Amino acid sequence: MSVLQVRHVKKFFGKRLILDDVNFSIDAGNLHARINRSDIMNVLQVRHVKKFFGNQLILDDVNFSVDAGEILGIVGLSGCGKSTLARIIARLIDCDGGKIFLCGEDITHATGNAFYRNMQMIFQTPEDSFDPRRTLGASIAEPIKNFKSLELEALSFKENTPLKAQSSKLKAKVEKLLAEVGLSKNYAERYPREVSGGECQRAAIARAISVEPKLLICDEATSALDVTIQAQVVALIKNLCVKKNIACLFITHDLALLPKIADRVIVLHNGCIVEQGTPRQLITDAQSSFTRQLMATDFFATT
Ligand SMILES: Nc1ncnc2c1ncn2[C@@H]1O[C@H](COP(=O)(O)OP(=O)(O)OP(=O)(O)O)[C@@H](O)[C@H]1O
Ligand SMILES: [Mg+2]
Repeated sequence: MSVLQVRHVKKFFGKRLILDDVNFSIDAGNLHARINRSDIMNVLQVRHVKKFFGNQLILDDVNFSVDAGEILGIVGLSGCGKSTLARIIARLIDCDGGKIFLCGEDITHATGNAFYRNMQMIFQTPEDSFDPRRTLGASIAEPIKNFKSLELEALSFKENTPLKAQSSKLKAKVEKLLAEVGLSKNYAERYPREVSGGECQRAAIARAISVEPKLLICDEATSALDVTIQAQVVALIKNLCVKKNIACLFITHDLALLPKIADRVIVLHNGCIVEQGTPRQLITDAQSSFTRQLMATDFFATT
């Protein structure tokens, strides 16, 4: 018999979810309470998310959380709903049920762009997400200008002036971001067509981290790159997330990448999470037959 039992405690302050399903007990004479850290505050909480396209159920009661600095891999067959889930979290489309909390704030039906200060996306083809008429430097500077909060409040700039003509502080900030993703400062003046796919993806990562997001969503971010470049970009994303304590959703159909990048993995099948665990657990001790089949394909069968 415990002296104190706390069961399924929730607390909101306004719209912010501060405590979510907290459970613990304290026994007589034992002051050591075990509180699961993830109950207290996750960067991202996805709760009972459902999505229909027409009358087809695409996502069914999807639940998971991601902590700061944690990289969560999301895998599953083509069409299982990975990108749909990413687009719901990024508020590009609405869900038909459930809730999404970002840094404790309910963003399920959030409008406007304010939450992009805390959440950024990286897509498969970065060329498509850059304006071909603007230099990479100007594009990387854009979110910094949109979210002037940071240390950038001090920066002065005028709309549509070339990066060169903007404040030296903004230029220095862009050059620092380029250095963080392994590009020299002369890339700031290049156009998307003047760089390789790998370099363009590095620039996209620089733009994403420019606002110091809490959550990074990577949807097949390395799938279009050749193997060597892919390994470099995966290592870059991993290092940045660890260094900057960024939570990351890493969606991939490439199972071989999971041990290299993911701390934990969820397996989606027909819109449901059928399994979650560390990459090693899924490889050596998968519980569901679907995960075992998935892991038996390609990479894991050959290593
Ligand atoms: N806008 C849409 N309208 C109707 N159906 C859609 C729409 N977007 C996606 N779907 C359908 O939803 C299902 C899930 O698609 P989704 O793009 O999420 O899959 P995925 O897991 O990302 O696949 P892949 O690995 O090939 O990228 C598919 O059957 C797809 O055809
Ligand atoms: Mg997809």
